[in-house]
Amino acid sequence: MPKQSPDSLTIRRPDDWHLHLRDGAMMAAVTPHTAAHFERAIVMPNLVPPVVTGAQAAAYRDRIMAHVPEGSNFRPLMTCYLTEDTDPEDIAKAHADGIITAVKLYPAGATTNSASGVSDFDKVRPVLEKMAEIGLPLCVHGEVTDPSIDIFDREAVFIDKVLKPIRKKTPDLRVIMEHVTTENAVDYVRDSRSNLAATITTHHLIINRNHILAGGIKPHYYCLPVAKREKHRIALVQAAISGDKRFFLGTDSAPHTDENKLLPCGCAGCFTAINTMSCLAEVFDAAGAMSKLENFTSLAGPRYYNLPPNEATMTLTKGDPVTYPATVDTGDGPVTVFDPGFPLHWRVQ
Ligand code: DOR
Ligand code: ZN
Repeated sequence: MPKQSPDSLTIRRPDDWHLHLRDGAMMAAVTPHTAAHFERAIVMPNLVPPVVTGAQAAAYRDRIMAHVPEGSNFRPLMTCYLTEDTDPEDIAKAHADGIITAVKLYPAGATTNSASGVSDFDKVRPVLEKMAEIGLPLCVHGEVTDPSIDIFDREAVFIDKVLKPIRKKTPDLRVIMEHVTTENAVDYVRDSRSNLAATITTHHLIINRNHILAGGIKPHYYCLPVAKREKHRIALVQAAISGDKRFFLGTDSAPHTDENKLLPCGCAGCFTAINTMSCLAEVFDAAGAMSKLENFTSLAGPRYYNLPPNEATMTLTKGDPVTYPATVDTGDGPVTVFDPGFPLHWRVQ
């Protein structure tokens, strides 16, 4: 049980089950921020070019490790990017060698650097069958890419048109529906009997589509899947604070330079690595659910991934508003830190 008082909470050290660390100068700047609070993170493979083989995942892991500060126990958990040419044997070997923890499915064209993703889901069936056989989970970006489908409906349509058929054909496949943004996805996960879980981001617990679009466009709140109506945000908060072991934190912290965000066609992504734990504590406290924070950040994820929870702990204390930088400097340019729009009182000790 977490140690708790009205202004202090000690929990097992959290993990981030969906994270973008990028590469090069950006990776060098952002990796220490995640390592400061998280012990493990599932690292997304959507680099340019993407991380598609076990050998590339191992090389990427080594590049990340070079930027983990000394004394930190942070470990990146690597993924391979699923393409229609992915070799099931390469994936199985990377899993057996302890290089990868999951495979990532991007529908082609769904989001940042997803052009090499999957268009014909039947073509990846042999990989999915192999993953089901060896117990390797599939992380799914759950949005259809059909331009005729409204962007606010793409997650709900994906569940019916893509995810249900995949799970029906390969029922033993362990799936994580990532960064869910709708009541539909929450209900689908909750109603499933096995082999399905979901990650929820920090920002989708805090913003709805008004934050992006009302009173002037706010590019720093634009991410994919795009935030939906308030009733969906409320459903996400209810799932996160429920204690249900199928919902856990995947921040989807996705740094882009301000130069690339503030464009006529700006990049999708919110950078939350720095203030995620303070944001989450504020959300859970406001909901009267601080006792459920540990399940969401530190217990449910390892359980679904069949990994032990972390032994180390983290203490959060409540006090005067926390200060954190508005931007982080990287060798590629400044990256704006997610602004929850309210003061944060919980700080990581
Ligand atoms: O907002 C997002 N940013 N959503 C994604 O799916 C990708 C990510 C990125 O890589 O920037
Ligand atoms: Zn992502």
